[in-house]
Amino acid sequence: MEEFCRKFPLMWGVYMRKAIILAAVVLWCVLWGSAAGAAQLPKVISLPAPRTQGGMPLMQALKQRSSNRDYSSKELSLQTLSDLLWAGFGVSRPDGRRTAPSAANVQEIDIYVAKADGLFRYNAQANALELIVAEDIRASTGKQPFVQSAAVNLIYVADFSRQGRFGTQKDSWAAMDAGFIAENVYLFCASEGLATVARGLFDAELLAKNMKLRADQKVVLTQSIGYPQ
Ligand SMILES: Cc1cc2nc3c(=O)[nH]c(=O)nc-3n(C[C@H](O)[C@H](O)[C@H](O)COP(=O)(O)O)c2cc1C
Repeated sequence: MEEFCRKFPLMWGVYMRKAIILAAVVLWCVLWGSAAGAAQLPKVISLPAPRTQGGMPLMQALKQRSSNRDYSSKELSLQTLSDLLWAGFGVSRPDGRRTAPSAANVQEIDIYVAKADGLFRYNAQANALELIVAEDIRASTGKQPFVQSAAVNLIYVADFSRQGRFGTQKDSWAAMDAGFIAENVYLFCASEGLATVARGLFDAELLAKNMKLRADQKVVLTQSIGYPQ
């Protein structure tokens, strides 16, 4: 016992030193790993200017608009993504108004873009994608298997902090505003030969968690886009 008491402080010191070295190594690995991950993806991706001329005649696009659930794995170029997002809800006029209408022009819908390399928010004013999560969350954007392989899944999120005075109509107006954007995207896809489907089937709670949404943000609708198979 006497022997143990004499040796104990010594042994304790050795164990503590080992534990501190181990913790430092683990911390370094974690920090280095996240720094390396962050280095791969910039926080903001500037999109090329959208091509706002041309495309299919409107009546033909309306005729060809359809829902398609078979996607190839081919990715969309940044140019196509820029054109698509502009068609959906880009800034179309000098006063900041957009390609889709919104109730009282509050523009409460944000388009989030889930791709293989991460989740981004479309900043229409800057024509840029802002990195939200550097993870592939496509599988959690819906309940159907094709959502995990569609090149892009758009997530229409209502930001209720911009809708203060709408009271009980917040949800229905947000749903309508998202619907206008989704239809713009449908028509763009028809014009460009892309496959798309609007989707209301998703686990809202899981998706909000994976997207790191605030309590006053709500997923209204999702929409898959990709090249047809
Ligand atoms: C609000 C809304 C929610 C929808 N949700 C889904 C969905 O979760 N999954 C799906 O496969 N299709 C979904 N659709 C697509 C419809 O099934 C599709 O529009 C309908 O079958 C008519 O086909 P069409 O778009 O080719 O005319 C949805 C459409 C709307 C407008």
